[in-house]
Amino acid sequence: RTFDVAVVGATGAVGQAMMEILDQRDFPIRQLYPLASERSAGEQLSFGRKKVVVENLADFDFSKVQIGLFSAGAKVSAEYAPKAAAAGCVVVDNTSQFRYDDEIPLVVPEVNPQAIEGYKDHGIIANPNCSTIQMVVALKPIYDAVGIERINVATYQAVSGTGKEAIEELAQQTSALLNGRPISPKAYPKQIAFNVLPQIDAFQDNGYTREEMKMVWETQKIMEDKSVLLNPTAVRVPVFYGHSEAVHLETRTKITAPEVKALLQKAPGIVVFDEHKNGGYPTAVTEASGKDPVFVGRIREDISHPRGIDLWIVADNVRKGAALNSIQIAELLIKDYL
Ligand code: A2P
Repeated sequence: RTFDVAVVGATGAVGQAMMEILDQRDFPIRQLYPLASERSAGEQLSFGRKKVVVENLADFDFSKVQIGLFSAGAKVSAEYAPKAAAAGCVVVDNTSQFRYDDEIPLVVPEVNPQAIEGYKDHGIIANPNCSTIQMVVALKPIYDAVGIERINVATYQAVSGTGKEAIEELAQQTSALLNGRPISPKAYPKQIAFNVLPQIDAFQDNGYTREEMKMVWETQKIMEDKSVLLNPTAVRVPVFYGHSEAVHLETRTKITAPEVKALLQKAPGIVVFDEHKNGGYPTAVTEASGKDPVFVGRIREDISHPRGIDLWIVADNVRKGAALNSIQIAELLIKDYL
């Protein structure tokens, strides 16, 4: 059986990765429709060895497709995802638009595949935030074994999470600064090249940023457990692809570092790279970028807490953090439901 699939935001950073991954994983596609704004309509994109022509989202008839992969921003999803669902298309939405809606499932296939079934209510499944996805993939086996009371996390997030304009901005700022030319930040409130910004998304009343609160709301929803407490600090760094996270856990019962390592080594979607020597850990650029797994290293017992475990978690934010996770959801959808 084959399916007709629309990629909404096909010209963007995540949309492009979606098309690449659909091709690499041999997703059973009959017809692929790349959709974007009217600015890109008529543009040619590569899909495997074929060329496909971008169509204007505003003119598209969603009754032609069974699956829509949306990654064109929350406003676009707010307007078009319900229309697509009403036309009979199942939407896998990579934006934050529906994630916190109790009636919309929020899914990471390694963690809560059973939640997909909830798509039947509204025809929409939400894909979590990139920082949440890689963290919950690594934490689920520990959660299942010993429970998690509290998570302290600091992220080191790549600019590709913001989109293609931010990728260009980091490249341009880097080159301008190295050549002594002035810069004027657009994608971020301050210079991102050679800098580190402790702000991702807008500030909230409680002093956290929205990206930080997304990690709180989403982790509790995906784990189906509001008793898991989180304290995140989300930071943008001048890296193109790959988010890194320093995670400090307080488990409910004691677990040792070797036990954590053994659990993670047999868990799906995870590669443990943890050697206590120079370079014996995963990094965004060297290990994660362009790859599918979530990489975990620096596994150790927290010397300041009797039930503390520290981890370093790295993944390609555009792939596992967005495009790949959406496509894994679509794969479960066609296997079990469509
Ligand atoms: P376009 O290239 O035509 O602007 P990124 O996240 O990398 O910035 O990409 C955003 C994606 O969302 C692009 O494919 C962009 O298309 C698409 N997009 C943005 N606004 C709209 C819109 N109003 N209608 C359809 N697609 C949109």
